[in-house]
Amino acid sequence: MKEELLQQGFPVLSEGVAGIATEGTFDDTLRLNLLLRTGHRVLYLLRELPARDAEALYRGVSEIPWEKHIAEDGYVCVTSSVESPSIRDSRYANVKCKDAIVDRIKEKRGQRPDSGPDQDRAVVNLYWKDEVCSLYLDTSGEPLSRRGYRKIPLGAPMQETLAAAVIMATGWKGHGHFINPMCGSGTLAIEAALAGLNRPPGLLRDNFGFMHLKEFKEAFWNDLRAQAKREAKKSLQCRIIATDIRREAVEAARKNAATAGVEHLIEFSSCDYSETSIPEGEGVVILNPEYGERMGKIKELESVYKGIGDFFKQRCKGFKGYLFTGNLDLAKKVGLKAKRRIPFFNGGIECRLLEYELYEGSRKNKNPQIT
Ligand SMILES: C[S@@+](CC[C@H](N)C(=O)[O-])C[C@H]1O[C@@H](n2cnc3c(N)ncnc32)[C@H](O)[C@@H]1O
Repeated sequence: MKEELLQQGFPVLSEGVAGIATEGTFDDTLRLNLLLRTGHRVLYLLRELPARDAEALYRGVSEIPWEKHIAEDGYVCVTSSVESPSIRDSRYANVKCKDAIVDRIKEKRGQRPDSGPDQDRAVVNLYWKDEVCSLYLDTSGEPLSRRGYRKIPLGAPMQETLAAAVIMATGWKGHGHFINPMCGSGTLAIEAALAGLNRPPGLLRDNFGFMHLKEFKEAFWNDLRAQAKREAKKSLQCRIIATDIRREAVEAARKNAATAGVEHLIEFSSCDYSETSIPEGEGVVILNPEYGERMGKIKELESVYKGIGDFFKQRCKGFKGYLFTGNLDLAKKVGLKAKRRIPFFNGGIECRLLEYELYEGSRKNKNPQIT
């Protein structure tokens, strides 16, 4: 995410486990919502205020001019993260914050907006740590991982933002082929196609939190979209191949790719990973096998992981091989020395993206010397 922000010309002010702070205007949040591939939410800080208890929170939140952000006939959802000793139940803080917002709007405009748990309209985020509350407009609304193309869910799909971050970590930008056996619902292949085309993921969505705030300028948003479309490529110079042993997974992946508008760029087929066709040339071969939680399943998976090592060695010479897994013991069964091990978190599970260089042997054959 840091690299993405820097690439877009935004400074990185601080970096934490939960997010990165940068600087910009409200209009900049529209650009970030459109362009970011790896971020989950773009939060726009309105105010930081001291609060020892829920009453102080109510008073502080009431002082923010919410009527300038949220329409009196609109709808607002409050989300919160509370780590304050004075608050045992974070739901209480949430209700206090929501009451302060809607009471303030009623006082200023004579009407109270509706409120509830749906994040598809105006969203306010409260972050309360010790005695300091930060109040944000959540300009994304629904998290940015919900791109809108994964209409057909399958077991254990990778989040879209994680898939984009994994691809970024491989360094693949549309040069060289992108091969994804075990594609499941197709997230990696679809995100690769979008990244290769330089097509921003935000073009796929027609609803964001910022659209429900008073600061939103529709003409500016339309200009941003039009510019992004002009700057995106129409085709790729490489092949993207996605396969899965389950026919229904391939069908779901194909439909998801069609929804994302990239079906024509991905060659889908149903086969065992080891039979995936590997084109001449270079590129990335990436697999995200199951990593199993039950012991019986883990035993079964040992042979799959060993087979992936053989597949890399025998079939993928000249490519960079990647394995994304949450089970490092299983990863050892691959039997190859990883050149890089990049940590990721997937739904609370610590995972690794392991990189294998598969050049050995192929280099000799690449430019055969005839003597
Ligand atoms: C963890 S899921 C992949 C999820 C995928 N990254 C996504 O975002 O949807 C693992 C996939 O491997 C497939 N698979 C399992 N064994 C396989 C095999 N021997 N050959 C090919 N695919 C296999 C499963 O059908 C499943 O779709």
